[in-house]
Amino acid sequence: MSEGNPIVELAKRRGFFLQSADAYGGVSGFYTFGPEGAALKQNIEDTWRERFTIQEGNMEVDAPTVMPEPVFEASGHLEGFDDMLIECPECGDSHRADHIVEDNTDLEDAESMAIERVEEIVAEYELTCPTCGAGLAGQAIQQFNLMFETNIGPGSSSPGYLRPETAQGIFVEFPQLAEYARNQLPFGVTQIGRAYRNEISPRKSLLRVREFTQAELELFIDPEEDEPDLERVEDVAAPFYPADEQQSDDGEIVEATVGEVFEEGIVADPWIAYYLGIAKRWYESIGVDMDRFRFRQHLPGELAHYAADCWDAEAEVDGDWIELAGFAYRGDYDLSKHAAHSEEEFTVFKQYDEPVTVERPTVDPDMSYLGPEFGGDAAAVADALETLAERDPDAFRDAQADGGAVTVEIDGQAYAVPVEKTGFEIEEVTESGEHITPHVVEPSLGIDRALYTVLDHSYREDEIDGETRRVLELPPEVAPTTVGVFPLMDRDGLADRAREVVDRLRDAGLAVTYDDSGAIGRRYRRQDEVGTPFCVTVDYETLGEGDDSDLEGTVTLRERDTTEQKRVPISDLAETLTELRDGDIEFADL
Ligand code: GAP
Repeated sequence: MSEGNPIVELAKRRGFFLQSADAYGGVSGFYTFGPEGAALKQNIEDTWRERFTIQEGNMEVDAPTVMPEPVFEASGHLEGFDDMLIECPECGDSHRADHIVEDNTDLEDAESMAIERVEEIVAEYELTCPTCGAGLAGQAIQQFNLMFETNIGPGSSSPGYLRPETAQGIFVEFPQLAEYARNQLPFGVTQIGRAYRNEISPRKSLLRVREFTQAELELFIDPEEDEPDLERVEDVAAPFYPADEQQSDDGEIVEATVGEVFEEGIVADPWIAYYLGIAKRWYESIGVDMDRFRFRQHLPGELAHYAADCWDAEAEVDGDWIELAGFAYRGDYDLSKHAAHSEEEFTVFKQYDEPVTVERPTVDPDMSYLGPEFGGDAAAVADALETLAERDPDAFRDAQADGGAVTVEIDGQAYAVPVEKTGFEIEEVTESGEHITPHVVEPSLGIDRALYTVLDHSYREDEIDGETRRVLELPPEVAPTTVGVFPLMDRDGLADRAREVVDRLRDAGLAVTYDDSGAIGRRYRRQDEVGTPFCVTVDYETLGEGDDSDLEGTVTLRERDTTEQKRVPISDLAETLTELRDGDIEFADL
């Protein structure tokens, strides 16, 4: 997004966000949130925490951002968290090959194509370097892993990575978290924190950066039993763009409620449908324009390595649809992987309603036979027999029927053991429950993209007294400042009285800015531009009405969007503003 973009310009000038380390030339993909931006971001995060953690009864954690290599071996990020890198032979700039294809041809979803196919397309369409215009045909495309690597401690024996998603910090602690949840499914764990991706070509301001904040919920469920309370969101209406509509020539957006898309099988999983409803309400509450918002299902080739189904929340920004969040059904992928790669159990014990009697195959191999027969491999053969008995008891039954041998394979070598030497038996045991690996449903939201979208969607220009007014119509709940307080003049005791008002409002927990410089109209414009929903002016009427020592009298309260003004008693001001901020009353009700 160019510097000429009004949001980028406003963000820098008024302290929402700016390219970091500008004094040293700046680093692409890293931004510093200034005072307004940091407050806006915190408020957005607070509303997310309220909605996704507190109201849903979930637990919040705060895990490290650096994690050791085995975590990412297990999660699949080391192997497969790659983007397609193409380098320009002329200027040397690096670009994402799939983006070059999508931006310059009618082809979509290039990310899921094979590298060889993308190389062919680059040559076929004579695609060029976005920086210098040189031809890219014939340039090899490489898979580039997006994780930032580091070393934990001195030396290089303990590699670590900055986490590319906050989710892994939750999954690796699952055994303890399940205990905190008393092994009762379903339970949800949330986390808000930084994630890092060494994007090949960061772009569009905050929309694709190398360090960003994710707000993720990992919900652990028993897929056979747990269901959400869909009634709570069934009436939430939104535009849905299913995969089959995207693939059809005359595909259309489906305008429907959450209840309808679930009933009609458009969103197959009830948990995903539930969180789409919760998220739609949340995005609306923080100021995303619902006429520029939709849910889009991933195409089959687009699904992440862990996802069985995924819907994105998308918003239109500058003519493009951008992904704000993903809602994925991750199945038991993550917990099974961490169980396989670590020494821990990633299961919960599921108690049956009634104890059940089951047949359990067991082996008790005759080591006095296995030892002399297989030497150093005997113990491994015994283990393999145990695994085979659990997985395929019929192999033993068949061998018993024909008096033959059972064959196990270890590192490609076959070992045949006469069935009578395996000690195979079927025992009847009574079980009170079983260990199950929970499935995971994950709403994963990006805070930076939400923040940028809210700024973009709330920005307006209008005209007041022949002057252009720039205004951010931010919802009061997330606006960095709730109220600006101004003395009409900086004299005659007006400023002292205004400062007393400021103290009183701050004591009530409101975010307040004091401003006594310049014409009153200019001060209003300054607050309009950073989205302050209300301004209070202390004027001569205030002084005339009250006694100096207590805060009697009235002030002018002005609303940002309508610019309407009303007189409000100072004694009621803190309560009135708190109710206005929390949406409990409307300005028109005053
Ligand atoms: N745990 C799942 C996960 O990380 P993702 O779709 O890769 O899924 C989730 O990321 C969200 O994080 C995205 O929807 C987006 O809002 C945000 N995000 C991802 N990469 C980003 C980037 N480079 N810059 C800004 N936000 C990003």
